[in-house]
Amino acid sequence: MKIAIIGTGYVGLPTGVCFAELGNQVVCVDSSELKIQNLNNNIIPFYEPDLQDLLKSNKELGRITFTKNLSLAIKNANIIIIAVGTPSNKETGHADLTFIKNAILEIAQNLSKEDGYKVIAIKSTVPIGTNKLLESLILQYNSNLQVDIVSIPEFLREGKAISDFLNPERIIIGIDNDRAKELIDKLYKPFTERHIPLVFCSRKSAEMIKYASNSFLGIKVSFINELADLCEALGADIRDVSKGIGLDSRIGSKFLLPGPGFGGSCFPKDMIEILTTSKENKTPLTIVEASIHSNSNRSEKILQKIEKALNNNLFNKQIAIWGLSFKAETDDVRFSPAIPIIKKLQERETSININAFDPEANQNMFQVISNINYFDDMYECAKNADVLIVMTEWPIFADVDIDKLYKTMRLKTILDLRNILNPKKVVERGFNYFPLGFYA
Ligand SMILES: NC(=O)c1ccc[n+]([C@@H]2O[C@H](COP(=O)([O-])OP(=O)(O)OC[C@H]3O[C@@H](n4cnc5c(N)ncnc54)[C@H](O)[C@@H]3O)[C@@H](O)[C@H]2O)c1
Repeated sequence: MKIAIIGTGYVGLPTGVCFAELGNQVVCVDSSELKIQNLNNNIIPFYEPDLQDLLKSNKELGRITFTKNLSLAIKNANIIIIAVGTPSNKETGHADLTFIKNAILEIAQNLSKEDGYKVIAIKSTVPIGTNKLLESLILQYNSNLQVDIVSIPEFLREGKAISDFLNPERIIIGIDNDRAKELIDKLYKPFTERHIPLVFCSRKSAEMIKYASNSFLGIKVSFINELADLCEALGADIRDVSKGIGLDSRIGSKFLLPGPGFGGSCFPKDMIEILTTSKENKTPLTIVEASIHSNSNRSEKILQKIEKALNNNLFNKQIAIWGLSFKAETDDVRFSPAIPIIKKLQERETSININAFDPEANQNMFQVISNINYFDDMYECAKNADVLIVMTEWPIFADVDIDKLYKTMRLKTILDLRNILNPKKVVERGFNYFPLGFYA
């Protein structure tokens, strides 16, 4: 099939590359000229495992191209996929639809009746009712068009985007018009052939499924974080508790690891959106509100743990932070829990000095926080540190050379906010080790 993708970010680019991999002819468009230039030179604008190789091979086969010319991209396409950002509007709590409305306007301006029937698939996460709104908008701009808008929310995870896209547990398709179904069935044939379920529902239900999924996962994370604190207070071990409850298939073992709080470009904004919508409809999702509240208190809780680990004396302390992205295997720092923790540390005690290392996210974090020291080597970052905070679960941190780290640091204190180090080894080497939810 001929597919145009609008937006080549963390969702749009893997989507384009994977559809090309499945044998389709894909043209990707982005409003950023630099991104398109870079992609044409095989430079990926962000870190995502396996993406580079897959892009290269599909480019060589001529199955994927990049352009700033939206008109060129959409005229020949059967399906136009929109994957632009829908960030949170801080004042209203709702998703900001500026980018997606602009994309719709551009499509309307660049298509004509003669271009034939097109399905526009919305992959961006949008508030309930938005797909319908976008359909009326496009027809308002250009009433001659033959288009249907379908909602196909995306569930891929950054860091696992390629395998998630190619092996989804389900594909949600919100469709209010049978005309679009034939093309959608054809597009997803490689998945249905492998018995991956397509769940057809209304567009509103599809939009709701996306928000409900992210909210549920956020709630699960908040629950396990608070439970870890309670385990610490009572002397239980969160590792055993997570395992014990996770083996119950009604609960499931995923998202039961405590940490510094959820972040990223999805959970925080999506939970605020659905909470705002629920309140406006006078059916408040109080449980979502509690999770948001719990998560925003998380950085303060973590700060108290850091202070405790340093005997309530932050004065002149050298602090090393490993991990800046919101989770491992991505360079995305949007709403990373590292941000409020670093800012609070700096507010609490101006004399502290912070060193930071992330395998991929140093540059992105520098755009947000420029007054800390960035390192390209994790041991250099920890040199003379009084405390090391393991913020993100990058595998290289778990594989740390404990002896080397011990010799490098000044005070031998580690706060492991992902419980990824080997407690026995760390304690035996002589560190003061502070994990989450148990005592080593
Ligand atoms: N990041 C994730 O893990 C993830 C997962 C599932 C769903 N989503 C949702 O997918 C959507 C996209 O998220 P993202 O993280 O890929 O965003 P992103 O910011 O990484 O990428 C968006 C891209 O769209 C481009 N763009 C904006 N307006 C445009 C226009 N009019 N024409 C062409 N290009 C345009 C931007 O330049 C940017 O490159 C959001 O709604 C998000 O909530 C994200």
